[in-house]
Amino acid sequence: MTALQVPGASAPYEAAPWAGGTSGQPEPLIFERSAPGRRASSFPPAGEFPEVKEAVPVSARRTGPIGLPEVSERDLIRHYTRLAHRNYAIDLGFYPLGSCTMKYNPKIAETVAAMPGFARLHPAQPAEQVQGALEVLWRLEHALKELTGLAGVTFQPAAGAHGELTGLLIMRAFHEAAGDPRRRVVIPDAAHGTNPASVRLAGFEVTTVPSNPDGLVDLDALERVLDTDVASFMITNPNTLGLFERNIERVAELVHGVGGLLYYDGANFNAILGKVRPGDMGFDVVHMNLHKTFATPHGGGGPGSGPVAVSEGWCRSCPHQLSGATATRSGGTPAGRSRSDGSTAGTATSGSSCAPTPTCWPTAGTGCATSPSGPC
Ligand SMILES: Cc1ncc(COP(=O)(O)O)c(C=O)c1O
Repeated sequence: MTALQVPGASAPYEAAPWAGGTSGQPEPLIFERSAPGRRASSFPPAGEFPEVKEAVPVSARRTGPIGLPEVSERDLIRHYTRLAHRNYAIDLGFYPLGSCTMKYNPKIAETVAAMPGFARLHPAQPAEQVQGALEVLWRLEHALKELTGLAGVTFQPAAGAHGELTGLLIMRAFHEAAGDPRRRVVIPDAAHGTNPASVRLAGFEVTTVPSNPDGLVDLDALERVLDTDVASFMITNPNTLGLFERNIERVAELVHGVGGLLYYDGANFNAILGKVRPGDMGFDVVHMNLHKTFATPHGGGGPGSGPVAVSEGWCRSCPHQLSGATATRSGGTPAGRSRSDGSTAGTATSGSSCAPTPTCWPTAGTGCATSPSGPC
């Protein structure tokens, strides 16, 4: 137990466990610090402004003492400061959620996220009042498309694991729409623990492939487990061991060869950001942990932000897209690729669907109509 005697405090208090304390003396309630006549601020004497009293309906007027604690300013500030020190705070530790990758979240990101134009929005606010926030989302969506080399983005998922589940459900919808439902998802033995959990949650069976002595995907082992029941191969690159998969194009070839889809777990996207694009490596679906690669603060609806990007032609399969409402159908063939039996899955064609309107900010959920400027 670490009891700290703060200079000037009337009682020692117990620091939070992460700050060196364990348990022990609780901070007294502010009421327990109360002493008659003490004040932290003074108000004009009652009765000095009768018009104020008259303005309050009789039924709403107080008839007895208010019952507030009576404390000096010093006691008041110190009480709440001691309690505040028990909160987990970025000033004193790193964020524990989204635990594995780059976890430094600069304070400037917190300041930006706390701007009233973001922080004070109401989910039911009319679209015309939230155009600034929608513009930021719209710009981010297009930046993420460019960075991933993919065509459609949904911001719905609130964390990396949530993005995995969303991506898996999108892939399931893709196969089902093609009349070819599949049961299995393959993951490397080095996969992050959320991968198999998300696979099961999305209703698939997990097949694990071993890594080779170099710590990379064992191509022969992968080939052995691939068949037309495989919905996807899910992998992060660089992988959990911190190694770049050197044969990723061959992996893509093998997976696509059986009509499967290649899923990029983007938790480690920061390692390749701006250098190579998952879409160019042959990935069909990508989730990004924006609270890692982009230092997006946690909170705002979840422990982070895990948008999912998908191949051309799938835009309609994504929940809550800002743009891309001109996509013609749910599901489609990953860019330029046909299924293993030679047929194409669905009717969507690459290049047709997700082009944004550059000069207007779409309203969430409704897509984007052409308009010369301002909101759609
Ligand atoms: C490879 C990988 N995938 C998925 C996740 C899950 O992301 P999140 O913690 O945002 O749910 C993590 C990290 O936590 C990760 O490192």
